[in-house]
Amino acid sequence: MINLEVLYKPVPINRSELDGRLVVVSNRVPLPSSSGAPAAGGLAIALESALKVRGGLWFGWSGKTSEECDTALQCRSNGAITYAVCDLSRLDIEQYYSGFANRALWPICHYRLDLANLSDCNAAAYFRVNEHFARQLHKLLRPDDMIWVHDYHLIPMARFLRQMGCTNRIGFFLHIPWPGPDVASAMPAYQRILRCFGAYDVIGFQTEADADNFRDCIAAANAGRVIDGDECEIDGRRMLVGSFPISIDTAVFAQEARAAEKNSAVKRMLASLNGHDLVIGVDRLDYSKGLKQRMEAFSTFLERSPEAARARVTMLQITPKSRSEIPEYAHIQSELEREAGRINGKLGDVDWTPLRYINKSMSHSSLAGLYRMSRIGLVTPLRDGMNLVAKEYVAAQAPDNPGVLILSQFAGAAQELKSALIVNPYDIEATAAAIARAYTMPLEERKDRWQANMSVLRANSIHDWASHFLQALANDAEAGVFDRALDETRFPGFAGLDRLRVVGAAPPRLRLDSVTAVVP
Ligand code: F6P
Repeated sequence: MINLEVLYKPVPINRSELDGRLVVVSNRVPLPSSSGAPAAGGLAIALESALKVRGGLWFGWSGKTSEECDTALQCRSNGAITYAVCDLSRLDIEQYYSGFANRALWPICHYRLDLANLSDCNAAAYFRVNEHFARQLHKLLRPDDMIWVHDYHLIPMARFLRQMGCTNRIGFFLHIPWPGPDVASAMPAYQRILRCFGAYDVIGFQTEADADNFRDCIAAANAGRVIDGDECEIDGRRMLVGSFPISIDTAVFAQEARAAEKNSAVKRMLASLNGHDLVIGVDRLDYSKGLKQRMEAFSTFLERSPEAARARVTMLQITPKSRSEIPEYAHIQSELEREAGRINGKLGDVDWTPLRYINKSMSHSSLAGLYRMSRIGLVTPLRDGMNLVAKEYVAAQAPDNPGVLILSQFAGAAQELKSALIVNPYDIEATAAAIARAYTMPLEERKDRWQANMSVLRANSIHDWASHFLQALANDAEAGVFDRALDETRFPGFAGLDRLRVVGAAPPRLRLDSVTAVVP
């Protein structure tokens, strides 16, 4: 047995290191648009706002497919943020992004083992692309950079960086849930993935339950040990494991909602409602969001509440399409189209479409205004890391006449927004009853619930989230030098592409010295 103590030599903290540049790494990097439009998506908005305050480098995939295997790293600056992105080949996207990240890790982390597609070939591509990203990033790093890696696409990043000699502090934050050992162990390359976490200094989850699940996985798989609750030791290296619930820019979003009366989409919506009440849902088109159950619950509510039907209560479900090239997403897409048609056919009238289901994305400002005019916000995922729509709905409300949030017990946000009406989204009747309760809730109760939720959001904004995580990373008392030679002894072939029973030849890798500045 290898003595793990000798694998990592402790490194004393140099205080000046803590003033280093922030380097954020995420799979998708939204390059600033020429129109100056803000980044879309919860993760993108959160990271953009963390970087705007501190400045730094944002590294990842451009979101573009390259026909060539050999693509250049593109760098561009916007204010205090430098973006460094590279394209991925069609094969990488198919195997790493769609195949492994979104058809294996995503369903498993969302407790949908029935939808998981397990393939060694895609698992190999996952490590291969992570190694490629690590190589590209390594060229740009300075010794005092603090590196913050995001989400399930990039778990092995730090391990590859360490193998390349990187001794910087590296943190990881998982935006999606992390299940317990019985579910997580269905991941292909499970042991290897768990060991990859060992190269980080701080590992953050959305909730305490996710962090507990992770610690249970480490212990149950014998991948390391749990020390004093908050710390784990993997391969002789200690790291902090904790919950850092992500949030929104509460004050800015509330202000945006106040100002949104003038927004044209909001005005058109208001005019079309003719004074009828609105129920709103906003989600990416994803099977984890519980959209079919939500639609059924709304239709059950209308059937059980004739006065609501007479009052023409209308639901607006805004659902931009996502990951449509993946079969499970194409399937849920047609299922929802059928369900929306069924409900409108059954309950609608010549002058009333009870469920307005639209597949387009909307600006931040339009969403803020639509939330504010909605009497009920329906956020009922079957499983969700956090769900920032829940937080945005609360922040957007008018203090003197707030709407009611109905929130799934399986969203991370339910751990904080305890004054929402919490529902089990699988229970259609109970969700329908919660809609009825919200619809008739007296003003005083609505105000009390909103105040309580809003004070949670005021105390934990996106800025607090980023500060807490980065503080933990900066304060982390123990860093380690990764011993490449010994890592190779423990994981023979880890640095190469032959680590899984394989799997087809990897495409030729990109030139490593090709850094192109697109915009100076
Ligand atoms: O919530 C997980 C996540 O990957 C976010 O990072 C992102 O905002 C969203 O899903 C969209 O995912 P994709 O990049 O696959 O379109």
